[in-house]
Amino acid sequence: HTDFSAVHDLLDQRLPDFESRMLGQDFSHRFEGRPVAGEVLQEVYSPIDHWLMVGRFPSADGDVIEQAVSCARRTQPAWAAQGWAQRITVLRRLAMVLSERKYDFAMAAVIEIGKSRLEALGEAEESVDLIRYYCDQAERSDGYRQPLARAFDNESTHDVLRPYGVFAVIAPFNFPLALSVNMVCAALLAGNTVVYKPSPRASLTGALLLNACDAAGVPAGGVNGVFGGAQTGAALMRHSGIDGYAFTGSHEVGMDLLQSVAAGRHARPVIAEMGGKNPAYIAASAEVGVAVQGVLRSAFGLQGQKCSAGSKVYAHVSVHDEVVERLRVAAESLNVGDPRDRRVFMGPLIDEAAWRRYRTACEEAGADGRLVSGGGRLNAGELAYGYYVQPAIATGLPPNHRLNRKELFLPFVSVQPFTSLQAAIDDGNAIDYGLTAGCYAQDPDEIDLFLNRAEAGALYVNRASGATTGAWPGIQTFCGWKGSGLTGKGGLGPYYVTQFAREQSHTIW
Ligand code: ALA
Repeated sequence: HTDFSAVHDLLDQRLPDFESRMLGQDFSHRFEGRPVAGEVLQEVYSPIDHWLMVGRFPSADGDVIEQAVSCARRTQPAWAAQGWAQRITVLRRLAMVLSERKYDFAMAAVIEIGKSRLEALGEAEESVDLIRYYCDQAERSDGYRQPLARAFDNESTHDVLRPYGVFAVIAPFNFPLALSVNMVCAALLAGNTVVYKPSPRASLTGALLLNACDAAGVPAGGVNGVFGGAQTGAALMRHSGIDGYAFTGSHEVGMDLLQSVAAGRHARPVIAEMGGKNPAYIAASAEVGVAVQGVLRSAFGLQGQKCSAGSKVYAHVSVHDEVVERLRVAAESLNVGDPRDRRVFMGPLIDEAAWRRYRTACEEAGADGRLVSGGGRLNAGELAYGYYVQPAIATGLPPNHRLNRKELFLPFVSVQPFTSLQAAIDDGNAIDYGLTAGCYAQDPDEIDLFLNRAEAGALYVNRASGATTGAWPGIQTFCGWKGSGLTGKGGLGPYYVTQFAREQSHTIW
C-alpha cells in the first residue's frame, strides 16, 4: 500500500529526456574499457512500440570474441592480485554508481523489454543490494579465508578461495540488469575477469552497465562486453580461453552449454540457472483472496516472462471453482498497455515468437481443456505496435498436458483441482523443474507437508506479493533444483560468490 506517486512523477519528468538522450544511438563492443568500432550494426526496436528504435548494435563473431577473451586474460592476474579488500572497494563504488543511475536503468528496462515501471525500478534497487550483499558476505568471512585443523604442532593451514581466471557471463533479457550484475559482480569479486554478453533484447542495459563499470573504476579489461545473439553465445561456449561459465536462460541452451563444456579439454565450472514451472498449491484451508493475489502477481507480472513465474496452480476441489472465478475477474481487470504509463501492470510480450507461442498455448487450452480468460491480442490504437495480450487462465487440462508440465514463459496459468495435497505436491514434484513453489494454507500440518515435501530451491507460504516470484538478495537463496539449475547454490544466497572460485589450502611449517 506504499504510495509511489512521487516516484512516478519523477519518472514522468525524466522519461522524455532519457528517450532523447539514450535511444537510437550506435553502440559497439567494449574491451579494455574502449569501444570497438567498424562493424555492421543492427537496428533493435522496442517491444512496447515497434517504431521506437532502442539503438543499433553489432553482433560479435569469432574474431571479436577472440579479442575480448585475450583482453580478459591479460587483465586477470593484476585484478586477482589486488586482493579481496581492494576488489570490494571497487564493487562498492559500482553499487553506488548503479544507485545514482537507478532511474536510467529502470527506464531502459521499461523501454527495452516492456517491464512495468515499479518492477523495473525494483530491479535496479535489487542490483545495488546484490552487490552490497556479496561485499558484506566476503568482508564478514575475511574473503572466505578459514583456518583448518593442524596435523602437527608447528604447522598451520588455511583454506582460501582463488579465482578460476576468465568467466563468460551470458545473461537473459527478463532481468537485464539484476541477472547481469549478479553473475558479473560475483565473478569479479572472486578475482576473475569477465567476457559479458547481454541478451540481444537487452543490449541497451548491457551498454549502460558497461559504462557504469568504467565510471566505478573497474579496471579496463575487467568486464569486456560483446553484443550478439545465439551465434555469439555459441562461439563463447566453444572458446577454450574461458575458464568458467555463468549462464541464465532457457533449459535448452543451458544443456547445450553443459554439453559443449563436457566436450572440452578439461572440466570447467558451469553455473547455470535454467528456468522453472513453478507450482502454487491452494489448500482447502487457504485464504482464497490472498492466494488469488499471489497467483495473479506471479503468473502475470512481467507478462509471465520470469523463471520464477507461477504458471501452474493446484487448487483443492472445495475451492477450485472459486479460485478460477476470482482469478478470472482479477485478471480481466489488470491494466495491460504501454509500460511508460504508470497505471500499467502488464506490458507487451517480448517478441513475435512469444506472441505465436501464446496463441498456440491458448488454442491448445481451448481444445484440450477450457480457456477461461485470454487468448486475444489488444490491437487498439498505439497498442497495435506491440504484442499486447490478455492474461490467460486455463482449467480442465489433463495433468500431463504440455501446458501443465513445460515452462511457457508467457502470461498463462493453468489451474488443476486436487483432493489430496500430498498427491498434488508429488505431481508438482514430477515436473522436470524445481526453482520455486508456493503454498496457501492456514492448517499448520498442510504448511509442514508443503515445506517438507516440495522439491524446489525457494518455498513461499501465504504470500500475497507473489506466489512464486519476488526473491531478494540475502533473503531468498533462490537455488534451482533439477531442471532449473545445475549447482547446489544459486542467485541470491550466501554461497553464490564461492561458486566463482576454487578452494586451495595453504599449509605452512
Ligand atoms: N528475483 C526474481 C524473482 O524471484 C527472479 O522473481
